[in-house]
Parts: sequence; C-alpha cells; structure tokens
Amino acid sequence: MTGGHPGLVGGPVYLDYNATTPVDPRVAEAMLPHLTDLFGNPSSSHPYSAEPRAALAGARAEVAALIGARADEIVFTGSGSEADLLAVRGAVLASGGSHVITQVTEHSAVLETCRALERLHGVRVTVLPVDGDGLVDPAALAEGLDEETALVSVMAANNETGALQRIAELAALARKFGALFHCDAAQAIGKILLQVQELGVDLLTVVGHKMYAPKGAAALYVRNGVRLEPVVYGGGQERGLRAGTENVALAVALGAAARIAADELADGAPARIAALRDDLHQRLTAALPGRVHLNGPEKNRLPNTLNVSIDGALGHELLAATPEIAASTGSACHSGTHTPSPVLTAMGLDSAVLCADVRGLPARVRG
Ligand SMILES: Cc1ncc(COP(=O)(O)O)c(C=O)c1O
Repeated sequence: MTGGHPGLVGGPVYLDYNATTPVDPRVAEAMLPHLTDLFGNPSSSHPYSAEPRAALAGARAEVAALIGARADEIVFTGSGSEADLLAVRGAVLASGGSHVITQVTEHSAVLETCRALERLHGVRVTVLPVDGDGLVDPAALAEGLDEETALVSVMAANNETGALQRIAELAALARKFGALFHCDAAQAIGKILLQVQELGVDLLTVVGHKMYAPKGAAALYVRNGVRLEPVVYGGGQERGLRAGTENVALAVALGAAARIAADELADGAPARIAALRDDLHQRLTAALPGRVHLNGPEKNRLPNTLNVSIDGALGHELLAATPEIAASTGSACHSGTHTPSPVLTAMGLDSAVLCADVRGLPARVRG
C-alpha cells in the first residue's frame, strides 16, 4: 500500500502483515456500493441483478488475471481455510483415491483437513519433512508418490518464515504419478508473481486478507477439467462447488485487491519491500552482533518476511518489552504457557534456542 493507512495512525508500527493486512481504502470503496445500493441477487433476471452479476463476473476475471487463469476457473470461498478444504477434501473424495501427501509446515487448514480425511474416510496421509530452510526435498516427494496418491498439497510460501517451496518441480512430479497438485498460496499471493500455468498446479488457494482485502474474501483456482466434491451442497452457484447466494461485495473486494496487487507487482513492489526488510535485518544484526539468526532461506523467501531468533531473548518477552511494535512470535521457548513454533521445530531449530520472530512487513511499502 502507498502512504499511511488510517487504521495505523497513532498505533504501534505494524509488522504483522502475514497475519492480516489493513483493507486498502480503494478496495473498501469498490465494495461499498454492493453493501448499500446494489442488492440484487446475481442469479435473478431483472434489472436489479444486472449490476451485481456484472460485478461478480468482473471480480472473477480480476482474480483470474492475477494468477494467469481463466475467469471460469475461479471459485469464490468464504476464507482461505475453506478454499483449502474444498481443494484437499474435494479432490480426494471426487477422485476416489486413498492417499494424500502434504508437508509438515503447512497451515492447519490443510493439515487438519488431511487428518479429517484419515479419520472419516480412511485416507492414508503422508506428511513430508522439511530441511533446515523449511523446504521439501523433491526426492522425498518422488519416494512418497504411488498409484493410490490422489493429491499432493504444498504451500507456496510459509506464513512464519516466508520460505518459498519449489512448487513447479513438485507439481511436475505429482503429475508424473497422475496425482493432482494443490498449492496454498495464501501468503505468496500479491507478494510475488504467481502464474498457475508456469507452476503447473491444478488447484491454488487465494486469500484476500493477506493482500489488503477484507477477511472472508478468498478463492480457489480450479483448473478446467479437475473434478471436486462440493464444499457446500445446494444451488448451482460457483460451478456447483459452493452453493449459496454469492457475497458480491466481498468478491468485488477480492477482485479490486487482485487488480491493485497486479499493478504493484508490475511496478516493482517486491524489490522495494525486500530492500526495506534487509535493511531492518542489517540494523538488528549491527545492534546485536553475533546474536541474530535468520530462520528460513536467505534467498528463496517472501520479500516481506523476516524471521529471526535472537540469542538470549524470549520472543514473547521481547515483544512485550517493545510495545511500539506490533509483531508476532511464532515461537516462545522455555515458557510454560508458550509452545515452540511447529514450523521452526520442523526445521530442526534447537528447542534450547530462545526465539523471537519479527515477520510480516507490508507487501508494498515505497522506499
Ligand atoms: C498459509 C495459510 N493458509 C491458509 C490460511 C487461512 O486463511 P483464512 O484465515 O482466510 O482462513 C492462512 C491464514 O493465516 C495462511 O497463512
């Protein structure tokens, strides 16, 4: 976002953009008419429906354009978690496959959906490990794939470390074995350029509240020809995959956020924010020589994400002592009430290391 956001005025410096972003005023402006004047049901056939129907179609096209998809491949959902559920449960149940592969640092929306498939449908679940940078080894995926594998689900970028998985390579392997590939791009969307054809994915989760749209606005890219079990049964909305009268205002918000994100990506936002992130990292390192350790890969990382451990400092205590900063710690070791981050633990971070994260800078700050 450019300039200051009204929601941040007078408050602490906000460094928790991976948790959620403020709503871009341009996004709020775009959705407002659909909360006030334009109330028609997009499925009706009288004049009150024409504008909502056109707005819904426009929003679908804008989301599709951000990821290089076709408009009819976008299914609006009510959250990223719901998009993940539609993808993972939908693909496994529709294919009749009995095996799903994911990886240990996925968001719980994916991990818990896999566990539910195991519990309710007897599906075999393989959870791949990650290396010290939080990355899945393609060789491990190749080893895990078999003729029963219905779906592989690996996130584009990790929410805590920003680690970027080798999606194109992993998706190509899944395809070789006839398995579908789902990518949860909740964190990567709008922060780096993602094109579904280049990635070779079948399903991709898009989340609005990580890119300056409101919470509750999300979508799933469903490649044409991919069959899914619906997530909500009923009317034929959203290609019959998610019944219910469409929330036009939120769809319009997601479309507007996608359009703005595409413009910002083309305008060099990732390089600008990465420079600021690296400046912050350098200053921390200079202020605390030898004590600041980067968690996650140095290069293949979201441009807005910095996750560090600081020797001798507990994450939650550090944040409590710096009320001028609103950040998150994914880890807080050595404390009865704070458990270490499962993401950092899966990366093999020594639980004796005292951890503090500073992560989630804005996606679009101007240098
Ligand atoms: C990687 C990832 N996937 C999924 C989600 C879930 O999105 P939502 O909060 O819209 O359900 C999040 C949100 O934190 C996320 O970071």
